[in-house]
Amino acid sequence: MAIKLVTTAAGLRAESARLLREKPGSSQGLVPTMGALHEGHAALARHATSQNDVVVASIFVNPLQFGEAADLERYPRTLEADMALLDAEGVDLVFAPSVEEVYPAGPPLVRVTSGPLGDKWEGASRPGHFDGALTVVAKLLHYGQPGAPGSDGGTAAYRAYFGQKDAQQLALVRRMVQDLNFPVEIVAVPTVRDEEGLALSSRNRFLSAEERDAALVLSRALRLIESRALAHEPLDPDSAVALVKSQPLVQLDYFDVVDPVTLEPLGENCRDTPFRGEGLALIAAKVGPVRLIDNVPLKS
Ligand code: PAF
Repeated sequence: MAIKLVTTAAGLRAESARLLREKPGSSQGLVPTMGALHEGHAALARHATSQNDVVVASIFVNPLQFGEAADLERYPRTLEADMALLDAEGVDLVFAPSVEEVYPAGPPLVRVTSGPLGDKWEGASRPGHFDGALTVVAKLLHYGQPGAPGSDGGTAAYRAYFGQKDAQQLALVRRMVQDLNFPVEIVAVPTVRDEEGLALSSRNRFLSAEERDAALVLSRALRLIESRALAHEPLDPDSAVALVKSQPLVQLDYFDVVDPVTLEPLGENCRDTPFRGEGLALIAAKVGPVRLIDNVPLKS
C-alpha cells in the first residue's frame, strides 16, 4: 500500500508538507468521511485525485453529530477495508484521529450553528445533527488545509469534496464556507447509485432484500419529477408522493421540491405551471429500520 495513515494533526501537517514540498505550488484535496466506505466515497476520492496533486481523506466517526449513543456505537468501523479502497483511488494520506485528538478538552463549548437552514428537513428529525456535523467539518477543513502552520504548502490550492447525496449537508457546508470565509473550494460530487437506482449509503447494509426492493421507490419518484423538469412540464409532486405511499414497506417522512441554495420549497411554481429554472427534489423515508434520504437536482 502506498497510502499512509496518520492519526494526529501534527502528523498530518508534517506528511502533507512533505508531499507538497515535492510539488511546489500544487493543490491539496480533502475528502472528509466517517469510514464504512463504499463506491460513493470512491467517487469522491476519484474526483479529488483527478483534480489535486496531494489528496487527504479523513476517517472520523464524529460523536457530535449522533443523537443517540447507540447509533454512534453501531456505526461500522472498517479501517482496513477503507484504507484499501482509498489506496486503490490514489489517495495519499488517511487522517484517522481519535476522539481525544479532535476534542482534547471534551465536547467543544463553542460550536458552529447551522441556523434555520439546519433546522428543516433532516434537521427536523435529527435535532443538533447539523451543528455537530458543521463543527467537525470546520475542524477537518482546518486540519486538511495546505500551508497550515509548520507546513510548506502555503501557495497550494485547496479543495474539499462532498457528496450531492447529502444535499442539505452540502448546502450548509457551502454556506459556512461563504459566511465564515474558509479558504477552500467546495466541490460537489454526483450521487452514485446501484444498477437499479438505489443511492449508495452506508445504511443500505441494514436493509433486508425485501426492504431494498421497496426502497427503489424513492429513486423512482425522484426520476419521475426529474423527467418532468427536463420536459418543462408541471412537476406535480403529489403524484410522486402517491407513488411512494403506494409501497407499504416505505414510510414517507418528506418529499418536496426546493430551491437548491436556500432549501425553501418552490411552492406553486413547480406544481401546476411548466417547470423553469433550477430546483432540487428531496425525499426522506423510513424503510424497515433504516432512514434513507435521496435527492435529484432539477434543471428545466
Ligand atoms: O458526510 C459525512 O460522512 C459526515 O457528515 C462528515 C462530512 C464526514 C462529517 O462528519
